[in-house]
Amino acid sequence: MDSPVIAVANQKGGVGKTTTAINLSACLAERRKRVLLIDLDPQSNATSGLGVEQRAGHSLYPVLLGEKSIRDFIQPTEVKRLDLLPAEVDLAGAEVDIARSEHYLHPFKNALQPLREEEQPYDFILVDCPPSLGILTMNALTAAQGLLIPIQCEYYALEGLSVMARLVRQLRESGANPDLDIAGIVMTMYDMRTNLSQQVVQEVAAHFADKVFETLIPRSVRLSEAPSFGRPIIQYDRHCTGSVAYRNLAKEFLRRHRNGAASDALRQTADPAEETEEAAMPFRPESNAVPASPAGTEPGAPAETTGPAVETPGFDPDIPRTE
Ligand SMILES: Nc1ncnc2c1ncn2[C@@H]1O[C@H](COP(=O)(O)OP(=O)(O)OP(=O)(O)O)[C@@H](O)[C@H]1O
Ligand SMILES: [Mg+2]
Repeated sequence: MDSPVIAVANQKGGVGKTTTAINLSACLAERRKRVLLIDLDPQSNATSGLGVEQRAGHSLYPVLLGEKSIRDFIQPTEVKRLDLLPAEVDLAGAEVDIARSEHYLHPFKNALQPLREEEQPYDFILVDCPPSLGILTMNALTAAQGLLIPIQCEYYALEGLSVMARLVRQLRESGANPDLDIAGIVMTMYDMRTNLSQQVVQEVAAHFADKVFETLIPRSVRLSEAPSFGRPIIQYDRHCTGSVAYRNLAKEFLRRHRNGAASDALRQTADPAEETEEAAMPFRPESNAVPASPAGTEPGAPAETTGPAVETPGFDPDIPRTE
């Protein structure tokens, strides 16, 4: 059975890709899923954020070139059931080497092949992509069944999102990756005190409808501190708002996965035991949900006048809205 591959990508920098990749992985592992996190970014933030030292030669680089097996580089982490394939700065060189090859979109997909033959396959393989649509990200998108897009709740949030949506369509329609789908859009660094955050969420939801996760990731100092301690948030401060949010995100991710919001391939790991557990458990607290009330009227929000609708520079209105 194939492990579903989820690429965490957005060509915009600093939107919470790595924070989401690390913490969603850790929370899925906490929910008894076997998870592999692949650090596909030469910045290696997922590697250091999980407290793993960068070591020369220890990245996917030689695997992408077909010189070594992916199994040689996978290592366990401090989180039970979460393995990591680390990165280091030399991975940047892979872009150049792969670009020269004829099948430049496929080295990553080929590199994952040995994992398909495992007796106990991973429940999920998450890939932390670099902030570009270069060769490494394109390789991840060619191998993935799901694209998870973190978006920061800020003014230029939608910029580039149309490019990502178009790319998914192109990869699917060209036959390069017919299985690819948008697994979800995660709104990060949400600040419930500002109208801007609420308006950005509403704007993104207006265009991408149910692709937007209901769970919102709040702006949280604890979330930004955790990587310097090499810990996912649930180990750094298990009760803070960041931990609650990423646990909720993991629950919603699994629920969507089962409900078929993602592709057929993603549905393969449905877990009936989990179904029963969640039937009795609301998947998110109200405080962590997309605001149902109009901007500026949320109970407890500071008195702030409702501003004009958020402009969405760079957004392509031609992109069809999802059902
Ligand atoms: N919810 C949050 N609250 C506060 N700070 C956050 C939150 N999410 C991420 N950050 C911080 O914002 C910065 C960027 O986050 P992160 O590294 O996850 O983004 P990224 O998209 O992976 O960046 P890059 O494009 O460079 O790979 C980091 O310093 C991180 O600690
Ligand atoms: Mg990153």
